[in-house]
Amino acid sequence: MHCESARTKLTVSRRMSRSAQHDKSFATRLVAWQRAHGRHDLPWQNTRDPYRIWLSEIMLQQTQVTTVLGYYERFLASFPTVRALAEASDDAVMAHWAGLGYYSRARNLHKASKQIVEQHGGAFPQSVEALAELPGIGRSTAAAIAAFSFDVIAPILDGNVKRVVARHAGIEGFPGASAVEKQLWSAAQKRLPKQHADMVAYTQGIMDLGASLCAKSNPNCNACPVMMDCAARLSGRIDEIPAAKPSKKIPHRSQRYLLATHSETVLLVKRPPMGIWGGLWCLPEIDAESTNDEIGVNASISFAIRQYDKPEIASTLEHSFTHFKLTLQPIRLHVKSLNARAAEPGAMWLPLADIKSAALPKPILTILQRLGR
Ligand code: ADE
Repeated sequence: MHCESARTKLTVSRRMSRSAQHDKSFATRLVAWQRAHGRHDLPWQNTRDPYRIWLSEIMLQQTQVTTVLGYYERFLASFPTVRALAEASDDAVMAHWAGLGYYSRARNLHKASKQIVEQHGGAFPQSVEALAELPGIGRSTAAAIAAFSFDVIAPILDGNVKRVVARHAGIEGFPGASAVEKQLWSAAQKRLPKQHADMVAYTQGIMDLGASLCAKSNPNCNACPVMMDCAARLSGRIDEIPAAKPSKKIPHRSQRYLLATHSETVLLVKRPPMGIWGGLWCLPEIDAESTNDEIGVNASISFAIRQYDKPEIASTLEHSFTHFKLTLQPIRLHVKSLNARAAEPGAMWLPLADIKSAALPKPILTILQRLGR
């Protein structure tokens, strides 16, 4: 009997608290949830320094938190301020990015640091519009920097946040489609807090919710602070919203690379600034049509190499980019002697002992690391 009445009371009080919660705005519930359950000790939190916040947002654009952590600390140790970054060499910046991928992020970061010093006297602009004019800063990243640094009330809309907003507002269709994206921005705008003082917790909260409870599959709706008025949950469409990307086969390319070594050094050439791995050091590319015997006279490397043993085909490696898949096929060459002019601008013989600190694309580093085994 006693037990029965206690259970009834609990049910009633939970129901009351649910409806009381429903009266609170999306923002109020999300802010309270972030303060109680969100992330609080990431290295880019608890700072108002727009430089540190900007760097984290750029690194996190296409890379997971756990990967970013080490890169972030090393980058800040070498370039602690926007001025230090603006004054650094391209090579030093690229070397700190090597392995993170999406290298235009690093080139834009460097370019933007110079603009901030030259056009803004080294101080970050504070409005979303002015931030979004800097290279590499889109509307969502500009809003994240403005909210975290200056309490600006503006919506963010990265991949995880699109999922939260699409579900809560019941927006169908693929979020990458521009008409759908427009609806998402509008829904994100409507959900913002009224108080500037809530913007840090709100912005982090909507990211945290998307990264935890509001997962792509099997979201934990029961623990969600905005489940009571989530349109996708109420209509049983959690698995359909957001809609998947319409499938398109991604193209597959193959490329041969010259893996020429000479007394514990390897021949590398610098990639042109645009295109894949722009500005990084790479193995020289070889034409797919050239026969093995022609390899030594390939234009890009003929200046360096005189005598070599018969080339060997080394094992291949696959690497996925956003828009295509690449099979890397290294052709191994043991170089016995070099020409007098063994290096040129844009080419170098790198000691194999130094590969970890050079600005190399990840799959190239992997190929070079295999050599040591
Ligand atoms: N992804 C983008 N910004 C982030 C942040 N501030 N914290 C965690 N993940 C993020």
